[in-house]
Amino acid sequence: MAQEYHYDVLIVGSGAAGLTLALNLPNTNRIAVLSKVEIWEGSTFYAQGGISAALDKKDSFGSHIQDTLIAGSGLCHEDAVRFVVERGPECIHWLEEMGVSFTQVTNRKGKTLPHLTREGGHSHRRVIHADDATGKEVQSSLLTQVRNSKNIDTYEHHNAIDLITLAKLGHKSNRCVGAYVLDTQKHTVDTYLAPSVVLATGGASKVYLYTSNPDSSSGDGIAMAWRAGCRVANMEFMQFHPTVLYHPEARSALISEAVRGEGGHLLLPSGERFMHRFDKREELAPRDIVARAIDHEMKRLGAKSLYLDISYKSADFITSHFPNIHAACLEYGHDMTKEPIPIVPAAHYTCGGVVTDHCGATDLPGLYAIGETSMTGLHGANRMASNSLLECLVFAKSAAVDIIKRQSTPQPDTNFQVPQWDESQVTDSDEEVVVTHNWDELRRFMWDYVGIVRTNKRLARAKHRVDLLTQEINEYYQNFRITSDLIELRNLVVVASLIIRSAQTRHESRGLHYTLDYPGTLPFASDTILTPNQLESQTTGGWQPIPN
Ligand code: FAD
Ligand code: SIN
Repeated sequence: MAQEYHYDVLIVGSGAAGLTLALNLPNTNRIAVLSKVEIWEGSTFYAQGGISAALDKKDSFGSHIQDTLIAGSGLCHEDAVRFVVERGPECIHWLEEMGVSFTQVTNRKGKTLPHLTREGGHSHRRVIHADDATGKEVQSSLLTQVRNSKNIDTYEHHNAIDLITLAKLGHKSNRCVGAYVLDTQKHTVDTYLAPSVVLATGGASKVYLYTSNPDSSSGDGIAMAWRAGCRVANMEFMQFHPTVLYHPEARSALISEAVRGEGGHLLLPSGERFMHRFDKREELAPRDIVARAIDHEMKRLGAKSLYLDISYKSADFITSHFPNIHAACLEYGHDMTKEPIPIVPAAHYTCGGVVTDHCGATDLPGLYAIGETSMTGLHGANRMASNSLLECLVFAKSAAVDIIKRQSTPQPDTNFQVPQWDESQVTDSDEEVVVTHNWDELRRFMWDYVGIVRTNKRLARAKHRVDLLTQEINEYYQNFRITSDLIELRNLVVVASLIIRSAQTRHESRGLHYTLDYPGTLPFASDTILTPNQLESQTTGGWQPIPN
């Protein structure tokens, strides 16, 4: 039997962004946190390198800002960068208060300090970390706090399908008031209502065949916000991580950039270093440059992978800095203390997303977007390593402040009826193969045509296919009972379409968007902002059968 739930704040997503927000709201608020899979699962859990913050005495906010702006290739919003960087140290202290334990070192004077590692684009050691499994430490500490909070209800295996807005209910003034959510264990679609709804659903890298991300990164928040009428920006800037372990059975095994930060060299199959030919910062150039260089060399040589080598350092150094990565590589037969390990680039991070202000507020009153789902202006055309977890923390905290502020003003009218999810006009699918086939097709053509290097022709091919798939998936959605796979496929096709359209709009190469047809960078920089129009909202929006 479908249920209706009422909360003060509904948070869709239980990663660093969602949990941080929940823990920064007063304990008088009734809060629901949804996760479409297990509560710990999401990109946050897998984060390796760490969190950037200017903590070292020799470092400065100015330097962190400057490095972020350079990595972002002229497209970062300087005010957003400053906003985030200046809140870095206080966010780290807050994490420590939440029980996060960062790796420490003792200096020559016997003082214990956090160990700071280096990653691409950073001109200082500024990445605080918990060995090479920072995300696991952050996620588990925040989860412990959430589980101890009586005002926060967590719902695992609850997959948000669509936002409920007053406009869709036929009202003149628009606002987000909740979401329809599939309980994937009970197979019911429940209604969650709240005056503040927050999308913290992570990124969309699952749109590509090869990715470092877990399966949850299917761009659900971006697609839901788009269908609800919010602007989405800079989707052409999908970041490819340069070093994911190359092994037929290793799904998503990232080799942290911190390995290069601590001296790892990139090698051709011949054993020769090559990064000096692409950038004077060599292995520590920003990610777009390194990933493109690897892609170029792989294509030039017809190589299936290149190599990352840190074996010239002592085994002790390697196993103490990278215990988890070392163990993961061993599992696949590669000992990084003795030999170079095979690597390839893979889709890693969604720099674009739902347009928000500094409080995470979207275009739709009552709706916030935080974390990887959002486009805050921080990353520009290329995110600098380890700025992402920091962004999750900063905007989760500022969204909490904004939600609390709004709660002290007159509350919006709650005198509206929300229809239950109506499945009376759909049947169980007898052709699940359509969903799996379309998943595979979408992810493969995105990899082949909308990857690290693009051309007008490849983008046109991708556009043609995504249009056909959109039509087919929408028809399927109208006729068959909803499943998690169908929800994700429906969202992935929206996100793929947004990436392709954004890429087609940008007639230059900048940051992560590189096209052979426009190899130069234009003298002026501007965001690619897509606005849903009426037609799109009708064809891709609405919920399953029209509510009665
Ligand atoms: P996530 O942590 O991805 O959480 C998303 C949540 O949303 C999950 O709970 C998921 O179940 C839920 N969800 C999604 N859709 C729905 C739906 N429809 N209904 C209900 N729930 C939904 N960044 C750094 O700064 N430093 C690093 O060292 C680093 N290393 C990384 C290593 C790896 C392997 C990966 C994949 C990423 C790394 N990143 C790193 C990036 C960073 O981890 C992510 O950008 C960040 O964790 C995103 O957090 P989030 O809270 O926005 O989303
Ligand atoms: C890594 O450890 O290489 C990932 C860091 C990041 O994505 O910010």
